[in-house]
Amino acid sequence: MTDALSPSDAAKRASAWRAAEFVADGMRVGLGTGSTAAFLVKRLGERVRDEGLRIRGVPTSARTAELARAEGIEVVTLEDVGRLDIAIDGADEADGELSLIKGGGGALLWEKVVATAAERVVIIADPGKRVATLGAFPLPVEVIPFGLSSTQRLIEELLEGQDLDGRRVELRLRDGQPFATDEGNRILDLHLGRIGDPRRLALLLNQIPGVVENGLFIDIADTLVIGHPDGRAEVVELDDADPRAPLAGRDNIFTEVLG
Ligand code: 5RP
Repeated sequence: MTDALSPSDAAKRASAWRAAEFVADGMRVGLGTGSTAAFLVKRLGERVRDEGLRIRGVPTSARTAELARAEGIEVVTLEDVGRLDIAIDGADEADGELSLIKGGGGALLWEKVVATAAERVVIIADPGKRVATLGAFPLPVEVIPFGLSSTQRLIEELLEGQDLDGRRVELRLRDGQPFATDEGNRILDLHLGRIGDPRRLALLLNQIPGVVENGLFIDIADTLVIGHPDGRAEVVELDDADPRAPLAGRDNIFTEVLG
């Protein structure tokens, strides 16, 4: 990699390289998707080749699997390894509680499954991803193709009652055709402007039949690594010492329901 990177790519690379240091020999590693995660996969590939680092990687998309194999990383499935020691992934937005919007690259479903199977979740990002309030980035929601317009209508009705600045729902297209995820599903992008209560919205969206998963990642990230164009990287840890504790025993997305 030359240093002729844009400031944004230099920042992404700085965060990815710092996070790659969290990966130790023998670890089972969730490999994220997107341009920042690609810097991570390449860095881990270098460590495999140069240091003899032995890791098993579970990719969060078909394209990350392809890149990881090309980099010489052993690619396995979540079924093969059961749990992961660490998952490292990018994000579209991260707020002060490390709540995230993810799925800009359309891989949110596998990303959420992988992240929630990991002991530690590290998010890598450039400074532009850090926000006071989530929602300027359109929230991706993965839906099944069957009954798509009905599902979209139910989502639009749900949004009417929520604390948001916008409510436009748009089917994601690629080359003029509906975008298809690695699971063969569709993505609806929700243009919300500002999400007043991300926890509530995440729970409600997943109650709609036809919705598979939404791109709000609440109580999932443990660490945020913000890279800077000059190569520095800042590591922000969530205060909560054990965010992977049993659901009923900690403050999490289900707290209000479980009591
Ligand atoms: C893919 C994602 C990515 O992590 C997110 O879109 C950030 O991508 P990038 O690192 O290219 O900015 O959630 O589904």
